[in-house]
Amino acid sequence: MKEFARNLGLDDKNYIEVVGGTKLSGTVSPDGAKNSALIQLAASALVNDSWVTLENIPLISDVKDSLKMLEECGLKTKLVGTKATVSGRVTGHEFSNEYGAKIRASLIFLGSILPRMGEIILPLPGGDKIGDRPIDIHIDVMKAFNINTTIKNGFIHSKAESLPLQGTTIYLRFPSVLATVNAILLSVLAEGKTVLYNVAKEPEIVDCTNLLMKMGANIVGVGTDKITIEGVKELNSANHEVMPDRLETAALIMSIVATGGTGIVENIIPEHNASLFQILMSAGADIEVLSDKVLINASELVNGFTIETRPYPGFATDLQPIITALALICQRESIITDTVFKERFAHVNELRKMGADIIRNQNTITIKPTTKLSGTQVVGNDIRAVVSLINASLLVSGTTQIEGIKHLRRGHANFISKLKSLNACIDYV
Ligand code: EPU
Repeated sequence: MKEFARNLGLDDKNYIEVVGGTKLSGTVSPDGAKNSALIQLAASALVNDSWVTLENIPLISDVKDSLKMLEECGLKTKLVGTKATVSGRVTGHEFSNEYGAKIRASLIFLGSILPRMGEIILPLPGGDKIGDRPIDIHIDVMKAFNINTTIKNGFIHSKAESLPLQGTTIYLRFPSVLATVNAILLSVLAEGKTVLYNVAKEPEIVDCTNLLMKMGANIVGVGTDKITIEGVKELNSANHEVMPDRLETAALIMSIVATGGTGIVENIIPEHNASLFQILMSAGADIEVLSDKVLINASELVNGFTIETRPYPGFATDLQPIITALALICQRESIITDTVFKERFAHVNELRKMGADIIRNQNTITIKPTTKLSGTQVVGNDIRAVVSLINASLLVSGTTQIEGIKHLRRGHANFISKLKSLNACIDYV
């Protein structure tokens, strides 16, 4: 996997160093979407003496771990540039701790291995440490397909009573993103009809079902609260391009706004960030949204933000730490509540080290205007927290050193080089 070696050859680097205060300018594009690519790679394990080719894959470490997991269950993988091909047929159902325990999206192998093998042994997932992340909804979804689960010694062991799985009706108690994907994957080859209520509507799910439909799956209602799937006997080979990353898009837009800069973020799907645009514009950001790009003009944030994170199309929890950094330059107070991950506030203490005046009350933070911000040494412990700290360090005076390269690399292959291309004074050290 030489692409990763080239892209991720940062093992001798300790932190990211940023000298703040430069106004960003220029044009950038996001990479392919992490959370879309990871779901689709895991879903590709449904191939059966066939292949799936995915284009626009981001060269991040989570993708590398996903490819290794596909190999662990007997599939062939090939990565050329940003194009990944998965081919062959699943022959094994046991996964080691080495890769699956590092990423949350490893849970999607439940949905792609069980319809083929009837059984799976999978490490409990990893991913960002952003509070309690139970898997009860996944277990309930499997139960509805007569798949029984036990958890022992850090591994999930799930076994179907019989194959093929039988179509069913499920109401998700919360519209969990990955549990919705698992429910869809378990149903595409099931006998008869499956109806799913209260499902997640995130664009990554729509992107994944677009791949599944190219493979011949029969799915109706994706992007709404109710999805209906009519099982098919077999799936075909297919080629699909992963959608642009809406979270990287949002992060880059906020990097430019944070510095009072001027720029264009292009090759995007603007409707994926509709809630962000509304919030930025009401705070005073001068942005123009066109069909596949956003134009950002130098602007001041004269108002604050009032935000509650929600499942899509609400404001994404993944953007909460990043917009918290931007709130530091709002001229009025901002109030931000995370209703999805109520403990996702590890970035707050680090921002305080830079002079931020933030009060936390349970899952709500109040960010007060302050002029006393300056660079220092901070630590990011998950992908979005590191991005939050990078954006904060762009807008404060002086130098900031940010620990957390390995977390950034899990989610963004080229974020630092993109900021450099916008004239940011930033590098790995
Ligand atoms: N939840 C449960 N039980 C479950 C599953 C979820 O109670 O069985 C709760 C969670 O504790 C949380 C809420 O439901 O409070 C939402 O969790 P969800 O299941 O939707 O999250 P996820 O599917 O595990 C994906 C993304 C996350 C993103 C969330 C929410 C991937 C690989 N991960 O996780 O992305 O924050 O949806 O949008 O797609 C990130 O990229 O930084 C990231 C953490």
